Amino acid sequence: MTGQTDFGGDWTLEKLERVRKYLVAYTKIMNNQSWIESFAYIDAFAGTGYQSLKQDDNPNQPLFPELIEEEPLHFVDGSARIALQVEPRFKKYIFVEKDPSRYQELQKLREQFPDRASDILIVNADANTYLQDLCEKNWKRRRAVLFLDPFGMQVTWDTIQAIAQTKAIDLWYLFPLGIGVSRLLKRDGNINLAWRNRLDKVFGEPAWYDVFYKTYAELNLLGEQQRIVKIGDFDTISQYFVRRLKTIFPGVADNPLPLFNSTNNPLFLLCFASANERGAETAIKIAQDILKR
Ligand SMILES: C[S@@+](CC[C@H](N)C(=O)[O-])C[C@H]1O[C@@H](n2cnc3c(N)ncnc32)[C@H](O)[C@@H]1O
Repeated sequence: MTGQTDFGGDWTLEKLERVRKYLVAYTKIMNNQSWIESFAYIDAFAGTGYQSLKQDDNPNQPLFPELIEEEPLHFVDGSARIALQVEPRFKKYIFVEKDPSRYQELQKLREQFPDRASDILIVNADANTYLQDLCEKNWKRRRAVLFLDPFGMQVTWDTIQAIAQTKAIDLWYLFPLGIGVSRLLKRDGNINLAWRNRLDKVFGEPAWYDVFYKTYAELNLLGEQQRIVKIGDFDTISQYFVRRLKTIFPGVADNPLPLFNSTNNPLFLLCFASANERGAETAIKIAQDILKR
């Protein structure tokens, strides 16, 4: 994969459209805050700027696709290009991408958006490392919207904490509900150490185990035995993650949106949190409206 990326279907368009709506509302508000030095859009899992959707996902697909010689691809703007088109514009754009070829592809954005080129920073780095460093800077008169759109369980709680500590960033996070967390929560609760560590890193504490599993004492012929039952379903996981966010952010949307694949399985949970105490109320109102089903 060098050029466009093939990340998913309708749920991809849905996440992008919901985040886009927030960006439009955000820059309108920030544009009127003269005391703010700069407000940025940060995309820490930026991709290439484009996405290609499979033909199945294209609602305009032809009636007789077999008559078409080559399978057509449907290209749409990815989050980076969407943010660059928002008016009024952001003062600065930061795109982080770990994959070298996707990073190269992102460079084209400067030619495609010449009027914004000098305000575009493209970084070839790991999102967690880069963000933790960026969050330590002085944010007093700076604000940003940050989009975390990973493939899976890449974002660590340390990073989420660093974001909250800026007291300046509004966060959209595509939390890996079905694609990551739920898959690791085995029915019998017997989760290997590597997976436990991964879940500890995503949630920032080991207490998730007692939220998702219940231990019963059972008496049978062998005496008293412990039986572990999984009680963590998609709703439980979602509610727990929102509770976790609420421990560190002054504002968290109560209605995160599950995004389903074509077989109706939730893949991700689109979450929103605001780190700025003064702005949180308005931010949450807007985000909760955007997140309505
Ligand atoms: C789901 S895609 C992002 C799609 C993008 N938001 C869009 O709308 O086009 C995730 C991207 O994150 C990149 N990535 C994966 N792990 C990363 C990491 N640790 N740090 C930065 N980028 C990473 C992948 O190479 C991939 O391009």
